[in-house]
Order: sequence, then C-alpha cells, then structure tokens
Amino acid sequence: MTHSHRAASRLGVLISGRGSNLKAIIDAIAAGRLEASIAIVISNRADAPGLEHARAAGIDTLVLSHKTFATREDYDRAMVKELKDRQVALVCLAGFMRLLSPVFVDAFPGRILNIHPSLLPKYPGLHPQQQALDDGAAVSGVTVHIVNKDLDAGPVVMQQEVAIVPGDTAETLADRILDIEHALYPAAIALVLDRVTEHPSPK
Ligand code: GRF
Repeated sequence: MTHSHRAASRLGVLISGRGSNLKAIIDAIAAGRLEASIAIVISNRADAPGLEHARAAGIDTLVLSHKTFATREDYDRAMVKELKDRQVALVCLAGFMRLLSPVFVDAFPGRILNIHPSLLPKYPGLHPQQQALDDGAAVSGVTVHIVNKDLDAGPVVMQQEVAIVPGDTAETLADRILDIEHALYPAAIALVLDRVTEHPSPK
C-alpha cells in the first residue's frame, strides 16, 4: 500500500446520535478490516452519545450546530469547509439526521455514503422498520448507497436482506438489522474507497 493510497482513504463521518455505526467503522479500521482513517467526526448535536466513541479512539470531533446557521446552505457550506480542510476522500453519513442541500452533495460528487435500515427503494425516510412491519413484509434489510440530491435514493453500493420473524416489533427488527449494518458499512466503505482511489477527483 503506497502512502498516496493511504492519504486518499481519509474519512469524514457525520453523526447525530448513538453512533453505533461510527463505532463499527472505528473497530473495522482497528482490526485491519478497513484500510482507512477517520479524519474528523462531525455531529450537529453536542449531546450525541456517538461523540464518545470518537473521543475514546482519539479521533478529532467537531460539533457544528445547525441552529447557529441562518440557512441549510450556510450550514452545509461550513461542513464542506471543515471536511475539505481535512482532505477527506469520502463522507460517511452514520445516523446523521439532517437533509443535505445541493451545496453539500455537489461538493463531494459520488463521495458521500449513507446507510439505511431497509432494502431501498423500499421504505425510505423515517421509521423504515415500522414501515416494513406495517407493510406485512417477510423480509427487510440494509442498504448502503451513494448520496445524491434525493432522499435515500442514490445508487446502491451494497444490500443485505434481514428476515422478518413472527412477533417482530420495530425494536427487535431494528436490533437484528443493526447487527448487519455494522458488518456491511465498513465493507461497503472499503469497496467505494477502492473505486475512488483508482479515479482520484481533480483538485
Ligand atoms: C442506523 O439504523 C442507520 O441505518 C440509520 O440511522 C441509524 C443510526 O444508528 N441511518 P447509529 O447512530 O449508527 O447507532
């Protein structure tokens, strides 16, 4: 692995809450399953429990509260600046509960990933586990996809099914899906990093 390849593997991770997917990424890097480094973890909430996972691993954290910006675009511009200053190759949304404007999406074309607990295009948006149960589905799952300007709609990178079993509640289903998320997200990040480092974006 060359030095330049490593430099191209810098991640920016965006969170709003629990941060269990962030923790899974940190663990995958520590275990050598994901060849990358996390340059910065940004949370829009100062009280996001996930920030502790980053601090415990010695990763730089930044709280950027959307409440201190007049517009969504102003907020996104500030985030873009922080991420570009740290030369991140890939932005990973990990339970980041803010819609991204074109200002953000256009700053990292094809280089923003999201994880969603359903088999997209099924059950986008909020409460996908409850949506699956309400639909009487026999199966749901996990999707990692490239972020574009539409919510939960960009090109799929990886998907994995999770069976729905009798007696499942939104919570039991979410727990089983989450186990799969924690394996799938680092694997999908590795796949995308391989692609983007073969085709570095122009300066
Ligand atoms: C996960 O279910 C993820 O798929 C969704 O939000 C949840 C975040 O959980 N986008 P965590 O903060 O990573 O624990």
